[in-house]
Amino acid sequence: MRLCFLVEEEYRHDGMPREVIAQLGAWGHTVDIVRPGRSLLPLSSALTAGDHDAWVLKTVSGGPGLTLLEAAAHTGLTTVNDVRAIRGVRDKALAAVIARTHGLPVPVTYAAARAEEFARIPEAEFPLVVKPADGSSGRAVRLVRDPGELTATDQAPATGLLIAQPYVPNSGTDLKVYSVAGELFATERRSPLHPGRAVRERCVPLSAEVARITAETGAAFGLDLYGIDVLFGPDGPVVVDINDFPSFRQVPDAVARVSAAVLRLARRGPGALTAAPLPLPVTVPAQPVVR
Ligand SMILES: Nc1ncnc2c1ncn2[C@@H]1O[C@H](COP(=O)(O)OP(=O)(O)O)[C@@H](O)[C@H]1O
Ligand SMILES: [Mg+2]
Repeated sequence: MRLCFLVEEEYRHDGMPREVIAQLGAWGHTVDIVRPGRSLLPLSSALTAGDHDAWVLKTVSGGPGLTLLEAAAHTGLTTVNDVRAIRGVRDKALAAVIARTHGLPVPVTYAAARAEEFARIPEAEFPLVVKPADGSSGRAVRLVRDPGELTATDQAPATGLLIAQPYVPNSGTDLKVYSVAGELFATERRSPLHPGRAVRERCVPLSAEVARITAETGAAFGLDLYGIDVLFGPDGPVVVDINDFPSFRQVPDAVARVSAAVLRLARRGPGALTAAPLPLPVTVPAQPVVR
Protein backbone atom coordinates (compact mmCIF):
# COMPACT_ATOMS: atom_id res chain seq x y z
CA MET A 1 0.00 0.00 0.00
CA ARG A 2 1.00 3.60 -0.32
CA LEU A 3 0.16 5.75 2.66
CA CYS A 4 0.68 9.38 3.57
CA PHE A 5 1.20 10.33 7.22
CA LEU A 6 0.59 13.90 8.34
CA VAL A 7 2.94 14.45 11.26
CA GLU A 8 2.86 17.73 13.15
CA GLU A 9 6.02 19.16 14.65
CA GLU A 10 5.10 18.16 18.22
CA TYR A 11 5.12 14.46 17.29
CA ARG A 12 8.07 14.49 14.91
CA HIS A 13 10.31 12.59 17.32
CA ASP A 14 7.58 10.62 19.12
CA GLY A 15 7.48 6.83 19.06
CA MET A 16 3.86 7.15 17.96
CA PRO A 17 3.67 7.61 14.95
CA ARG A 18 7.40 7.38 14.02
CA GLU A 19 7.68 3.69 14.90
CA VAL A 20 4.40 2.90 13.13
CA ILE A 21 5.77 4.53 9.98
CA ALA A 22 8.98 2.47 10.31
CA GLN A 23 6.98 -0.73 10.87
CA LEU A 24 4.82 -0.15 7.80
CA GLY A 25 7.98 0.47 5.77
CA ALA A 26 9.51 -2.76 7.11
CA TRP A 27 6.40 -4.63 5.97
CA GLY A 28 7.04 -3.37 2.44
CA HIS A 29 4.57 -0.49 2.30
CA THR A 30 5.45 2.95 1.05
CA VAL A 31 4.87 5.74 3.55
CA ASP A 32 5.22 9.37 2.55
CA ILE A 33 5.45 11.88 5.37
CA VAL A 34 4.01 15.36 5.20
CA ARG A 35 4.96 17.78 7.96
CA PRO A 36 2.13 20.31 7.78
CA GLY A 37 4.08 22.71 9.97
CA ARG A 38 7.14 22.68 7.71
CA SER A 39 5.96 22.12 4.15
CA LEU A 40 4.93 24.06 1.10
CA LEU A 41 1.80 22.27 -0.05
CA PRO A 42 0.79 22.58 -3.69
CA LEU A 43 -2.94 22.30 -2.95
CA SER A 44 -4.10 22.59 -6.55
CA SER A 45 -2.33 19.43 -7.67
CA ALA A 46 -1.06 17.26 -4.80
CA LEU A 47 -4.40 16.38 -3.26
CA THR A 48 -6.06 15.32 -6.48
CA ALA A 49 -3.27 13.06 -7.67
CA GLY A 50 -4.85 10.05 -5.95
CA ASP A 51 -1.54 8.27 -5.53
CA HIS A 52 -2.15 7.21 -1.90
CA ASP A 53 -4.45 4.52 -0.57
CA ALA A 54 -5.04 6.52 2.62
CA TRP A 55 -3.93 9.54 4.61
CA VAL A 56 -3.27 9.15 8.31
CA LEU A 57 -3.26 11.99 10.80
CA LYS A 58 -1.43 12.35 14.09
CA THR A 59 -1.99 16.03 14.72
CA VAL A 60 -2.03 18.40 17.61
CA SER A 61 -5.26 20.20 18.46
CA GLY A 62 -5.48 23.40 16.49
CA GLY A 63 -2.53 22.38 14.26
CA PRO A 64 -2.63 22.72 10.48
CA GLY A 65 -2.92 18.97 9.85
CA LEU A 66 -6.67 18.55 10.21
CA THR A 67 -7.49 21.02 7.43
CA LEU A 68 -5.21 19.07 5.09
CA LEU A 69 -6.77 15.77 6.08
CA GLU A 70 -10.22 17.25 5.45
CA ALA A 71 -9.04 18.48 2.07
CA ALA A 72 -7.75 14.99 1.25
CA ALA A 73 -11.08 13.44 2.31
CA HIS A 74 -12.89 15.99 0.15
CA THR A 75 -11.08 14.68 -2.92
CA GLY A 76 -12.24 11.14 -2.10
CA LEU A 77 -9.17 9.85 -0.26
CA THR A 78 -9.59 7.42 2.63
CA THR A 79 -8.49 8.91 5.96
CA VAL A 80 -7.56 7.33 9.29
CA ASN A 81 -9.45 8.30 11.48
CA ASP A 82 -12.44 9.60 9.55
CA VAL A 83 -12.22 13.40 9.40
CA ARG A 84 -15.72 13.97 10.79
CA ALA A 85 -14.85 11.84 13.80
CA ILE A 86 -11.67 13.82 14.47
CA ARG A 87 -13.54 17.13 14.24
CA GLY A 88 -16.02 15.84 16.82
CA VAL A 89 -13.40 15.11 19.48
CA ARG A 90 -10.82 17.84 18.83
CA ASP A 91 -13.13 20.46 20.28
CA LYS A 92 -14.01 19.42 23.83
CA ALA A 93 -17.12 21.66 23.81
CA LEU A 94 -18.45 19.92 20.70
CA ALA A 95 -17.41 16.53 22.06
CA ALA A 96 -19.38 17.14 25.27
CA VAL A 97 -22.56 17.79 23.27
CA ILE A 98 -22.08 14.78 20.96
CA ALA A 99 -21.33 12.50 23.92
CA ARG A 100 -24.32 13.70 25.92
CA THR A 101 -26.63 13.41 22.90
CA HIS A 102 -25.63 9.77 22.61
CA GLY A 103 -26.24 9.10 26.30
CA LEU A 104 -22.59 8.60 27.25
CA PRO A 105 -21.67 9.20 30.93
CA VAL A 106 -19.95 12.59 30.68
CA PRO A 107 -19.88 15.41 33.24
CA VAL A 108 -22.21 18.40 32.99
CA THR A 109 -20.23 20.86 30.84
CA TYR A 110 -20.26 24.65 30.49
CA ALA A 111 -18.36 26.70 27.92
CA ALA A 112 -17.20 30.33 27.95
CA ALA A 113 -14.57 32.44 26.26
CA ARG A 114 -13.46 33.94 29.61
CA ALA A 115 -13.04 32.01 32.86
CA GLU A 116 -14.87 34.73 34.87
CA GLU A 117 -18.16 33.65 33.23
CA PHE A 118 -17.93 30.38 35.16
CA ALA A 119 -18.60 32.33 38.38
CA ARG A 120 -22.29 32.15 37.38
CA ILE A 121 -22.28 28.33 37.66
CA PRO A 122 -24.29 27.29 40.74
CA GLU A 123 -21.96 27.10 43.75
CA ALA A 124 -23.14 23.56 44.48
CA GLU A 125 -21.37 22.44 41.28
CA PHE A 126 -17.95 23.61 42.54
CA PRO A 127 -15.17 22.55 42.65
CA LEU A 128 -14.85 22.81 38.87
CA VAL A 129 -12.28 21.53 36.43
CA VAL A 130 -11.53 24.25 33.86
CA LYS A 131 -9.71 23.35 30.62
CA PRO A 132 -9.21 24.75 27.13
CA ALA A 133 -11.66 23.26 24.61
CA ASP A 134 -8.74 22.60 22.27
CA GLY A 135 -6.37 21.30 24.95
CA SER A 136 -4.40 18.08 25.27
CA SER A 137 -1.83 16.36 27.52
CA GLY A 138 -3.20 18.02 30.65
CA ARG A 139 -2.17 21.48 29.39
CA ALA A 140 -3.86 24.30 31.35
CA VAL A 141 -6.27 21.90 33.12
CA ARG A 142 -6.93 23.25 36.59
CA LEU A 143 -9.06 22.71 39.62
CA VAL A 144 -11.12 25.73 40.71
CA ARG A 145 -12.35 25.30 44.26
CA ASP A 146 -14.72 28.27 44.48
CA PRO A 147 -15.97 31.19 42.33
CA GLY A 148 -13.41 33.50 43.98
CA GLU A 149 -10.62 31.64 42.19
CA LEU A 150 -12.06 32.61 38.80
CA THR A 151 -10.27 35.92 38.43
CA ALA A 152 -9.97 38.06 35.35
CA THR A 153 -6.26 37.23 35.26
CA ASP A 154 -7.03 33.65 34.26
CA GLN A 155 -5.42 32.77 31.00
CA ALA A 156 -8.09 32.15 28.38
CA PRO A 157 -6.99 30.94 24.97
CA ALA A 158 -6.56 33.79 22.47
CA THR A 159 -9.29 32.23 20.36
CA GLY A 160 -11.71 29.49 21.21
CA LEU A 161 -13.51 28.39 24.32
CA LEU A 162 -12.75 27.20 27.79
CA ILE A 163 -14.91 24.49 29.29
CA ALA A 164 -15.80 23.89 32.92
CA GLN A 165 -17.13 20.71 34.51
CA PRO A 166 -17.87 19.75 38.10
CA TYR A 167 -14.86 17.91 39.52
CA VAL A 168 -15.63 14.17 39.55
CA PRO A 169 -14.37 12.95 42.97
CA ASN A 170 -11.86 10.20 42.20
CA SER A 171 -8.87 8.32 43.62
CA GLY A 172 -6.32 10.20 41.48
CA THR A 173 -5.93 7.39 38.96
CA ASP A 174 -7.16 7.80 35.38
CA LEU A 175 -8.26 4.73 33.51
CA LYS A 176 -7.10 5.31 29.96
CA VAL A 177 -8.88 2.94 27.60
CA TYR A 178 -7.60 2.53 24.06
CA SER A 179 -9.32 1.11 21.01
CA VAL A 180 -7.16 -0.15 18.17
CA ALA A 181 -9.84 -0.61 15.50
CA GLY A 182 -12.12 -2.38 17.97
CA GLU A 183 -9.52 -4.16 20.14
CA LEU A 184 -9.72 -2.61 23.62
CA PHE A 185 -6.99 -2.12 26.24
CA ALA A 186 -7.19 -0.46 29.65
CA THR A 187 -4.26 1.24 31.34
CA GLU A 188 -3.81 3.25 34.52
CA ARG A 189 -2.06 6.61 34.82
CA ARG A 190 -1.90 9.35 37.44
CA SER A 191 -4.39 12.19 37.04
CA PRO A 192 -2.57 15.50 36.48
CA LEU A 193 -4.89 16.98 39.11
CA HIS A 194 -3.36 14.60 41.70
CA PRO A 195 0.38 15.21 41.20
CA GLY A 196 1.31 13.76 44.59
CA ARG A 197 -0.26 10.37 43.99
CA ALA A 198 2.00 7.44 43.17
CA VAL A 199 0.47 5.47 40.31
CA ARG A 200 2.31 2.78 38.40
CA GLU A 201 1.47 3.02 34.71
CA ARG A 202 0.31 -0.39 33.61
CA CYS A 203 -2.24 -2.39 31.68
CA VAL A 204 -5.20 -3.46 33.80
CA PRO A 205 -8.24 -5.68 33.21
CA LEU A 206 -11.18 -4.00 31.50
CA SER A 207 -14.65 -4.39 32.99
CA ALA A 208 -17.59 -5.21 30.74
CA GLU A 209 -19.20 -1.89 31.68
CA VAL A 210 -16.19 0.23 30.66
CA ALA A 211 -15.70 -1.89 27.52
CA ARG A 212 -19.30 -1.12 26.55
CA ILE A 213 -18.86 2.60 27.23
CA THR A 214 -15.65 2.64 25.17
CA ALA A 215 -17.28 0.87 22.23
CA GLU A 216 -20.31 3.19 22.42
CA THR A 217 -18.01 6.22 22.43
CA GLY A 218 -16.27 4.99 19.28
CA ALA A 219 -19.61 4.37 17.61
CA ALA A 220 -21.03 7.75 18.66
CA PHE A 221 -18.10 9.65 17.15
CA GLY A 222 -17.18 7.27 14.32
CA LEU A 223 -13.63 6.81 15.62
CA ASP A 224 -11.43 3.78 14.84
CA LEU A 225 -8.11 4.59 16.58
CA TYR A 226 -8.95 6.36 19.82
CA GLY A 227 -8.68 6.53 23.57
CA ILE A 228 -10.93 7.70 26.39
CA ASP A 229 -10.06 8.94 29.88
CA VAL A 230 -12.34 7.42 32.49
CA LEU A 231 -12.65 8.38 36.16
CA PHE A 232 -14.49 6.31 38.73
CA GLY A 233 -16.75 8.73 40.55
CA PRO A 234 -19.38 8.10 43.23
CA ASP A 235 -21.94 7.18 40.54
CA GLY A 236 -19.67 4.94 38.49
CA PRO A 237 -17.47 5.48 35.44
CA VAL A 238 -17.39 8.95 33.86
CA VAL A 239 -15.74 9.76 30.52
CA VAL A 240 -13.83 13.04 30.92
CA ASP A 241 -11.87 13.07 27.65
CA ILE A 242 -11.88 11.45 24.20
CA ASN A 243 -8.80 11.46 21.94
CA ASP A 244 -8.24 10.45 18.34
CA PHE A 245 -4.95 8.65 17.63
CA PRO A 246 -3.61 8.73 21.22
CA SER A 247 -0.23 7.49 22.44
CA PHE A 248 -1.40 3.89 23.10
CA ARG A 249 1.14 3.92 25.93
CA GLN A 250 1.36 0.57 27.76
CA VAL A 251 -0.66 -1.23 25.07
CA PRO A 252 1.20 -4.49 24.39
CA ASP A 253 2.84 -4.54 20.94
CA ALA A 254 1.25 -1.16 20.28
CA VAL A 255 3.36 -0.44 17.20
CA ALA A 256 2.52 -3.70 15.43
CA ARG A 257 -1.14 -3.52 16.45
CA VAL A 258 -1.60 0.09 15.37
CA SER A 259 0.31 -0.50 12.12
CA ALA A 260 -1.87 -3.51 11.26
CA ALA A 261 -5.00 -1.52 12.13
CA VAL A 262 -3.91 1.38 9.90
CA LEU A 263 -3.58 -1.06 6.98
CA ARG A 264 -7.00 -2.59 7.65
CA LEU A 265 -8.62 0.83 7.92
CA ALA A 266 -6.83 2.08 4.80
CA ARG A 267 -8.25 -0.83 2.80
CA ARG A 268 -11.87 -0.14 3.71
CA GLY A 269 -12.21 2.75 1.26
CA PRO A 270 -13.20 6.39 1.66
CA GLY A 271 -15.98 7.56 3.90
CA ALA A 272 -16.86 4.08 5.16
CA LEU A 273 -16.96 4.48 8.90
CA THR A 274 -16.43 1.11 10.53
CA ALA A 275 -17.90 2.54 13.68
CA ALA A 276 -20.94 4.24 12.16
CA PRO A 277 -22.20 7.16 14.28
CA LEU A 278 -25.48 6.44 15.98
CA PRO A 279 -28.39 8.40 14.51
CA LEU A 280 -29.06 11.57 16.44
CA PRO A 281 -32.57 12.01 17.79
CA VAL A 282 -34.46 14.22 15.36
CA THR A 283 -37.11 16.64 16.59
CA VAL A 284 -40.02 16.70 14.17
CA PRO A 285 -42.58 19.51 14.59
CA ALA A 286 -45.95 18.05 15.63
CA GLN A 287 -47.79 20.10 12.99
CA PRO A 288 -46.44 21.13 9.59
CA VAL A 289 -45.77 24.86 9.56
CA VAL A 290 -48.19 26.52 7.14
CA ARG A 291 -47.53 30.11 6.18
N1 LIG B 1 -14.42 16.73 35.38
C1 LIG B 1 -13.28 16.24 35.89
N2 LIG B 1 -13.24 15.80 37.17
C2 LIG B 1 -12.09 15.32 37.72
N3 LIG B 1 -10.92 15.25 37.07
C3 LIG B 1 -10.90 15.66 35.77
C4 LIG B 1 -12.07 16.17 35.13
N4 LIG B 1 -11.74 16.50 33.86
C5 LIG B 1 -10.44 16.21 33.72
N5 LIG B 1 -9.92 15.70 34.86
C6 LIG B 1 -8.54 15.26 35.08
O1 LIG B 1 -7.68 16.08 34.31
C7 LIG B 1 -7.01 15.27 33.32
C8 LIG B 1 -6.81 16.08 32.06
O2 LIG B 1 -8.07 16.47 31.55
P1 LIG B 1 -8.55 16.02 30.11
O3 LIG B 1 -9.97 16.42 29.98
O4 LIG B 1 -8.21 14.60 29.90
O5 LIG B 1 -7.71 16.97 29.15
P2 LIG B 1 -6.42 16.72 28.24
O6 LIG B 1 -6.91 16.88 26.86
O7 LIG B 1 -5.48 17.79 28.62
O8 LIG B 1 -5.92 15.34 28.49
C9 LIG B 1 -7.86 14.03 33.18
O9 LIG B 1 -7.07 12.95 32.73
C10 LIG B 1 -8.36 13.82 34.59
O10 LIG B 1 -7.40 13.19 35.41
MG1 LIG C 1 -6.98 13.53 28.59
